[in-house]
Amino acid sequence: MKITVIGAGNVGATTAQRIADKELAEQVVLVDVVDGIPQGKGLDMWESAPVEGTDTMMIGTSGYDETAGSDIVVITAGLARKPGMSRDDLLAKNADIVGSCAEAAAKKSPNAIFIVVSNPLDVMTYVTMKRAGLKRNRVLGMAGVLDSARFRSFIAMELNVSVEDVTAFVLGGHGDSMVPLPRYSTVAGIPLPELIPANRLAEIVKRTRDGGIEIVNFLKTGSAYYAPSASAVQMVEAIVKNKRRILPCAVWLDGEYGLKDTVAGVPVKLGKNGMEEIIQIKLQPEEAAALKKSAEDVKENLAKVKL
Ligand code: NAI
Ligand code: 2OP
Repeated sequence: MKITVIGAGNVGATTAQRIADKELAEQVVLVDVVDGIPQGKGLDMWESAPVEGTDTMMIGTSGYDETAGSDIVVITAGLARKPGMSRDDLLAKNADIVGSCAEAAAKKSPNAIFIVVSNPLDVMTYVTMKRAGLKRNRVLGMAGVLDSARFRSFIAMELNVSVEDVTAFVLGGHGDSMVPLPRYSTVAGIPLPELIPANRLAEIVKRTRDGGIEIVNFLKTGSAYYAPSASAVQMVEAIVKNKRRILPCAVWLDGEYGLKDTVAGVPVKLGKNGMEEIIQIKLQPEEAAALKKSAEDVKENLAKVKL
């Protein structure tokens, strides 16, 4: 297993470190446009290997030759949000960056599965698929795992229970129109609406939707990266170990959920081929409408991007 992580910033470096800590690959290649940063961070991580007792070789580079033959490519390159900046402000700039990274990486690793993290996430997933000329099962956007993790952590705090017993689902785009699904969220199998009153649940749903900006407002000079990298690595692990986990991932839709030629977060079976299957769950009319609205918002942005 060889994994390339493009972008050696906060999310990329933490992702690389987590992959090494879990020994999910024999080799991790960390790529960044700023010469010295991936080399320095890569070497620093490799020097932690003897202490951690892991043998994942870490290589930092500013080119793509070293990435050749990767099984998985994680794209985190781009600009992060600053206070007052919406995810969509990043659209044009990051489309150029992500598109060129995806193209360069796919040339060297034509069989790789791509996990996209850069924002605006749903649009960048589409840009990656198109610019790298990949089949849709090989391109997955990471957002639903993070948004669901935020939802799960807030529910665990609310009920004072272990996070392990909380499952939650957040579908749709990674933005203000994301669709948390309390009906499909449970604590040890008990549906959430039976445990938390509707008005309080609405507040937790809102905090989940605003989860990204809550961290941006604290950090001021960047956005979240611990939970995002953990989420990306959960997807990596599902693919590396062919776990066939059901995780919410952003994928290109071709009629599923009544949505066509757009990207949205939906439940996906993740295994060695990437997206093995899209799971179609029954939605109530208002949930389906929220998912449709979210996918339409993404589609509007897709139209703004030059491919
Ligand atoms: P960061 O600024 O710490 O790192 C970005 C890195 O990308 C920088 O090191 C930069 O030099 C590099 N870069 C820029 N252009 C490049 C190119 N052409 N080739 C290679 N590397 C290039 O930002 P951070 O915090 O790591 O976030 C990265 C991206 O992930 C942002 O777009 C951010 O909004 C997004 N994000 C998405 C999340 C999600 O849920 N999908 C969660 C957290 C962040
Ligand atoms: C987040 O949700 C910035 O999209 C990123 O934290």
